[in-house]
Amino acid sequence: MKANLFSMSLEEQIYLRKSCRKYVDDELDMDSIREFISTVSPLNDEINYYCEILSRDEVKLQTGWSAPYYLALYSEKKDNYLENVGFIFQQVSLFMQSVGIGNCWVGMGSVKEKNQDFVILIAFGKSNQMTRDLSDFRRKSLDEISDKGDDRLTPARLAPSAINSQPWYFKHTEDGFDVYQVKQNILKRQILKKLNRIDMGIALAHMYVANEKTFEFYQKRDFEKIKGYTYTGSIKI
Ligand SMILES: Cc1cc2nc3c(=O)[nH]c(=O)nc-3n(C[C@H](O)[C@H](O)[C@H](O)COP(=O)(O)O)c2cc1C
Repeated sequence: MKANLFSMSLEEQIYLRKSCRKYVDDELDMDSIREFISTVSPLNDEINYYCEILSRDEVKLQTGWSAPYYLALYSEKKDNYLENVGFIFQQVSLFMQSVGIGNCWVGMGSVKEKNQDFVILIAFGKSNQMTRDLSDFRRKSLDEISDKGDDRLTPARLAPSAINSQPWYFKHTEDGFDVYQVKQNILKRQILKKLNRIDMGIALAHMYVANEKTFEFYQKRDFEKIKGYTYTGSIKI
């Protein structure tokens, strides 16, 4: 499986990716990453965003590990910008994984040079430890993340999330799902406030990548309220 890694599609990465925390210090072809970023679909095309590639000396980290490079993500702060950043850059994460570049979202870090548009970092670099078997994913069951278990939700189920909190919940509609975010208890609420919204965008990116031709995201005005959850939006797949 590992030998074919470089020719695999983004969708295939969903089933073997893992957050990478061990890197080798090799140089990378940044042009292919920049080129891919320029082609990615957003969730909300009315929000401006940008990113830059930084070295480990240009970031502040509270992680016990580091990577040779960091993607610093910036966005205009409006509407669903956090979900939008998760959606866009999880596609970039899967792309990097598909060309043998390990990566990991980093909530516990920031940029040294202050910038009010800063949202989050993604660590990346060459690595030999960035894949696993499907049986090694620690995730909630399909029944726990939806009103009724449905294999079509497996790509979202396998998505990465801050401290593996997996805040997503899906309720069936005629042609897709209403998508909700779990309200965290008081202990976790503060730390996950921003990150869980990014996680929601990440799970939506997996649903998009797995249903590229048919995926649509929209927000209903008259969505059903569910106790313990907030409404993120709805998808057709
Ligand atoms: C928004 C976000 C922030 C994260 N922040 C960190 C972090 O600061 N440090 C870290 O080691 N891992 C971080 N992670 C990685 C998660 O711990 C990881 O995705 C989760 O435990 C599931 O493991 P997996 O990605 O290998 O499937 C983050 C993930 C996401 C999605």
